[in-house]
Amino acid sequence: MEVLLKRDEIAAAVAKMGQQITKDFVGQSVVLIAVLKGACLFLSDLARQIELNATFDFIAVRSYGMKKQTAGEVQLIKDVTTPLRDQNVILVEDILDTGLTLTFLRKHLQQHQPRSMRIATLLDKPSRRVAPIEADYVGFRIPDKFVVGYGLDFAERFRNLPDICVLEEGGQE
Ligand code: IMP
Ligand code: MG
Repeated sequence: MEVLLKRDEIAAAVAKMGQQITKDFVGQSVVLIAVLKGACLFLSDLARQIELNATFDFIAVRSYGMKKQTAGEVQLIKDVTTPLRDQNVILVEDILDTGLTLTFLRKHLQQHQPRSMRIATLLDKPSRRVAPIEADYVGFRIPDKFVVGYGLDFAERFRNLPDICVLEEGGQE
């Protein structure tokens, strides 16, 4: 597979993002909420670059199945357990694509009345956006290609690749 982003580039971008979050929330605490399963690797690296009082939680939705296109509808599979009222929430996602997932999650989490809510995404595919939503922290803007690795899957495979690679066309539908 063609490598789009090497592990060193990813590590540098994650470190930079962690420093920015540290600066933005200095003197405050944050709750990092990772969207399962794709954002787990990103969360674990990002959290170690944030020098703040930080806690973790996890949320899961169903949007993409075995195919590459979005289902158009997002369903909550697992909710957070942390009380979020008056907390600084940072939603941590692997990739912002059509925006349907994060639009749904942002609305869902707003019901908990957090003090603030920001979105940190490792990857952004702006050309694919359907819902009007942007992330506050973006690692990389990438072209409209289906990528795997560093948490990102195709049909649950390839999450463990250390680099982010472009999945070749054909044979994967
Ligand atoms: P959205 O709702 O279309 O923004 O989709 C977000 C979700 O789609 C992400 O959490 C990923 O699980 C998945 N996704 C979108 N693009 C890709 C990709 O290129 N590779 C792997 N998963 C993707
Ligand atoms: Mg996925």
